Amino acid sequence: MTIKPSLDRRIQTLFPVALACLLVLGTSRLVLDSLKSNQSSIFRVYGRQEGDEHKKPVFVLPEDRFEKGCDVFEGQWVWDNVSRPLYTEESCPYLVKQTTCQRNGRPDSFYQDWRWQPHACKLPRFDPLKLLDVLRGKRLMFIGDSVQRGQFESMVCMVQSVIPDGKKSFHRIPPMKIFKAEEYNASIEYYWAPFIVESISDHAINHTVLKRLVNLDSIAKHGKSWEGVDVLVFESYVWWMYKPLINATHGSTDDIQEYNVTTAYKLALETWAKWLESNINSIKQKVFFMSMSPTHLWSWEWRPGSDENCFNESYPIEGPYWGTGSNLQIMKIVDDILRESKINVTFLNITQLSEYRKDGHTTIYGERKGKLLTKEQRSDPKKFADCIHWCLPGVPDAWNEILYAYLLQNHQNFM
Ligand SMILES: *[C@@H]1O[C@H](CO)[C@@H](O)[C@H](O)[C@H]1NC(C)=O
Ligand SMILES: *[C@@H]1O[C@H](CO)[C@@H](O)[C@H](O)[C@H]1NC(C)=O
Ligand SMILES: *[C@@H]1O[C@H](CO)[C@@H](O)[C@H](O)[C@H]1NC(C)=O
Ligand SMILES: *[C@@H]1O[C@H](CO)[C@@H](O)[C@H](O)[C@H]1NC(C)=O
Ligand SMILES: *[C@@H]1O[C@H](CO)[C@@H](O)[C@H](O)[C@H]1NC(C)=O
Ligand SMILES: *[C@@H]1O[C@H](CO)[C@@H](O)[C@H](O)[C@H]1NC(C)=O
Ligand SMILES: *[C@@H]1O[C@H](CO)[C@@H](O)[C@H](O)[C@H]1NC(C)=O
Ligand SMILES: *[C@@H]1O[C@H](CO)[C@@H](O)[C@H](O)[C@H]1NC(C)=O
Ligand SMILES: *[C@@H]1O[C@H](CO)[C@@H](O)[C@H](O)[C@H]1NC(C)=O
Repeated sequence: MTIKPSLDRRIQTLFPVALACLLVLGTSRLVLDSLKSNQSSIFRVYGRQEGDEHKKPVFVLPEDRFEKGCDVFEGQWVWDNVSRPLYTEESCPYLVKQTTCQRNGRPDSFYQDWRWQPHACKLPRFDPLKLLDVLRGKRLMFIGDSVQRGQFESMVCMVQSVIPDGKKSFHRIPPMKIFKAEEYNASIEYYWAPFIVESISDHAINHTVLKRLVNLDSIAKHGKSWEGVDVLVFESYVWWMYKPLINATHGSTDDIQEYNVTTAYKLALETWAKWLESNINSIKQKVFFMSMSPTHLWSWEWRPGSDENCFNESYPIEGPYWGTGSNLQIMKIVDDILRESKINVTFLNITQLSEYRKDGHTTIYGERKGKLLTKEQRSDPKKFADCIHWCLPGVPDAWNEILYAYLLQNHQNFM
């Protein structure tokens, strides 16, 4: 879509303001999490018990696989209040306040009832037991920022209900969160790394939000925690998009320079791709990269003439739509890097399908600086609505259904 230059300039100035407010929110979330965390709890290595009931191997059936070559990212949202949502706020004890929009007072709940339907094929029906079987003895890790944390929480909620109490655990060990299904010796984990590479925003508890400094060629510290993980799901976007330029180092850490964001992003992903090449065993490990999660900060983009944001939006956008917040230069960079990479990385291009979901954001029913919005703040949605993060259950569940479909697609049955 083409944008008039005047509009473009307006966007450039607004995006940073909105992001700055919201990312602070992300920070405080982690502060809270760390307070709740039990530092003394250490990872346990779970042994398979004698008489384990869950020994039988999973059989991925033909109907669990989508047709080869089908573009599952092209499709439409269909109303399905029978099979959706896949879980509820009440049924999932691990949801943080930031995402529980109903509990926080959101009056409408239609956003929970849409199912993503590809045009050319069917996604397999999500079966938590099947996913746990695929993940048996494995670790699935989501790596990225607070949007990625939402996807992690969604995934945990999608599977946890089939595991009885006492057979599952959830630990907050900053910068990680770890959910374990003990009888499966399977874990679903989250690792905070908003830029993927190292930065001064990496400390899960005490990090700057307004001041950014990215070490474009440093990744080893993070990488230590990713080694040997069976399924890695990366994401990084919104933290880069604060200003057109970003302070960064490449080479000497004393040599701080302002980089064009697109240049910096490319250098960072090159560092990441190199890490993959020297650390990933393609036979044992799978790597995914999530495309950018769209924002809905400017209502004039889908409703010309209006001057608001995603607040009070109850229905998805119908028909073609692509917001200017989703930068196609960045998209192209990811594409180039993945094409050149010697490691197979599956790119889950969820941007377009999420673009339609102007109704899915937390708006004023989320948190700000670790607290629910005050009455005064709620009365000023133009200033305080969060149009970056998503309510749960909601849009990230569809991303996970797609991730699930890919995991099954590649799964080989063993007799
Ligand atoms: C923290 O862990 C210790 C040792 O594992 C345990 O005794 C204690 O009850 C835990 N505290 C909380 C709040 O979970
Ligand atoms: C449990 O899983 C971990 C990695 O996810 C693995 O290292 C360990 O060997 C597994 N334990 C058993 C008993 O299968
Ligand atoms: C589901 O949606 C239909 C309309 O599309 C409505 O008539 C029905 O009451 C809804 N069912 C529930 C359980 O909300
Ligand atoms: C937070 O980080 C800043 C800068 O690195 C440091 O000066 C400050 O002491 C830290 N605060 C805490 C509570 O660790
Ligand atoms: C880079 O850092 C300098 C010094 O702290 C600061 O003046 C400048 O505004 C920063 N640039 C960006 C793009 O944030
Ligand atoms: C950053 O680089 C891209 C690609 O080279 C260019 O299109 C864009 O105009 C540059 N932006 C700035 C602010 O220099
Ligand atoms: C929300 O939108 C509806 C129309 O869709 C309108 O009647 C209502 O006044 C709006 N509410 C607020 C708080 O803007
Ligand atoms: C992702 O999807 C969008 C919309 O369909 C498309 O424009 C873009 O090129 C795709 N990105 C890649 C890397 O394939
Ligand atoms: C990457 O994927 C392609 C297509 O699925 C496959 O042919 C190739 O063997 C894979 N390469 C590696 C290194 O796994």
